[in-house]
Amino acid sequence: MHKNTDTVLHYHQTTKHRLERYAKGPESIDWEDQPDAFRRFSGCKIIHLPAPGVELKPLFTDLDTPESILIQPLNRANIGLLLELSVGLSAWKQFGSSRWALRCNPSSGNLHPTEAYLISVGNDFLNTGVYHYVSHDHSLEQRCLFKGNVDETGLLIGLSSVHWREAWKYGERAYRYCQHDIGHALGALRYAAATLGWSVELLAEYSDEEIGRLLGVKREADFKRLEGESPDIICRINTQANSKPVDVNALIDRVASGTWFGTADSLRAYHLYKWPIIDTVATAASKPRTIEPQRQAVRHQPLTSSCTENATVIIRKRRSAQQFDGKMSPLPTTDFYRMLSAVLPSSAALALWRWPAKIHLFIFVHRVEGLAPGLYALPRTVAAQASLRTATLTDFDWQPISDCVQLYHLHTSDFKLTAKTLYCHQPIASDSAFSLAMVAEFSTSIETTPWLYRRLFWECGLIGQVLYLEAEAAGVRGTGIGCYFDDSVHALLGFKDNAFQSLYHFTVGKPLEDSRLQTLPAYGHLTIE
Ligand SMILES: Cc1cc2nc3c(=O)[nH]c(=O)nc-3n(C[C@H](O)[C@H](O)[C@H](O)COP(=O)(O)O)c2cc1C
Repeated sequence: MHKNTDTVLHYHQTTKHRLERYAKGPESIDWEDQPDAFRRFSGCKIIHLPAPGVELKPLFTDLDTPESILIQPLNRANIGLLLELSVGLSAWKQFGSSRWALRCNPSSGNLHPTEAYLISVGNDFLNTGVYHYVSHDHSLEQRCLFKGNVDETGLLIGLSSVHWREAWKYGERAYRYCQHDIGHALGALRYAAATLGWSVELLAEYSDEEIGRLLGVKREADFKRLEGESPDIICRINTQANSKPVDVNALIDRVASGTWFGTADSLRAYHLYKWPIIDTVATAASKPRTIEPQRQAVRHQPLTSSCTENATVIIRKRRSAQQFDGKMSPLPTTDFYRMLSAVLPSSAALALWRWPAKIHLFIFVHRVEGLAPGLYALPRTVAAQASLRTATLTDFDWQPISDCVQLYHLHTSDFKLTAKTLYCHQPIASDSAFSLAMVAEFSTSIETTPWLYRRLFWECGLIGQVLYLEAEAAGVRGTGIGCYFDDSVHALLGFKDNAFQSLYHFTVGKPLEDSRLQTLPAYGHLTIE
């Protein structure tokens, strides 16, 4: 086995929550000492983006056929919209004197380890260079200006993670959550781009080293010790049907000779606890340059959605439910099947995913019209069904129950209490219409290619983002669940080894609002500050 695979496996085993003890995290949390959720670089030119909040015409359901959406021009206002609708603010919440921002992308514990960078090339409204997006201010910080002229035009977006921001609260398990968050942010970017008639092309070939050089996060001297960023993903934003692709290799070469500005401000919290296992796994799971075949896009239309709202409305109102109405009337079958069809690898929302699907769903149905409460499976590829069946308990009946999606009935039972227990005793797992486990083809993925550990979590996050938005579109609400007892889930399903591992969970139901919380506009502070 690859030495780095051993390291990754060790991390995975060590960071499992178990019924008898949680993965290692801080013994106490000083909420006053939370790391700044908004990174800023001092010493950079700041470019304010045009006022956020613009609504666009496309309906949420129009995003099923992205090619039908009017292509918006590439300009500063639309770049602002792209960033706002993906990683920008969606609201502020207030309780007493505490106030916190929510964003269009979710994040475990609302800690937001993901940072977004924009690379503008040959655009007359933004000098060719690298920019860091400050979601709080809806502005760009100019980190680098490239030398010389270019004859191409284009736009790239890169994502990186500040692991420590997440580890401050979650300790050793935080590295997993950072990867989920990258998947969510990628999904959020896809929906934002599609609303503008643009598309996201995941540049899957590049190494962490190359992405890091391009985004400037490898410039260690620009970051405070322990507060650095790990590069994750680079995407090309295709803004016109005939745009000439930017030569990313040439950009990576040029970035070294560019003029860099600014240093990262301290995230301010006191580093009381240190989690060296995160640095170790991050090194072992770093991505080299790879050759990635173009995926043949077999697209299908997801089942019809009853949603009539604009995509921008759905995107901005996405939230995590904190509590569900356990007495909700059953979720309509059509909404349930629509959600499942939207997470299949051939759906438009997942067209950007460059790799084969490796994540499959096991669903605890609690309250869905026409379905007996129980356990169901949705293998996301035809090929996976047989191996999932072999690996799970022999008394599961694997009865296909739908013509529209490859959904199998496994076992009829009331799983409400079980789900709640498995999900760290969280009532959101049992008071919902359904909750589900995202199960990865695990050992075969990471055996020879340890960085796929991260990719499996990204795929989970991407699926989670689709579920979040589909839940809003169906008039219900979702919540990602990172807290669950790993091996208890495996035991319930019958997994005996590492062939399959559950890496993320999700729950959907009718939300109960907390009336003590006040909701304030996303960018009200920009005019009052
Ligand atoms: C990877 C991930 C794991 C999460 N795990 C949980 C969880 O176990 N329990 C929970 O109540 N919320 C969980 N959440 C929801 C976050 O707490 C929520 O996204 C965050 O507070 C921001 O709120 P918002 O989603 O409404 O913007 C998770 C979210 C993500 C992205």
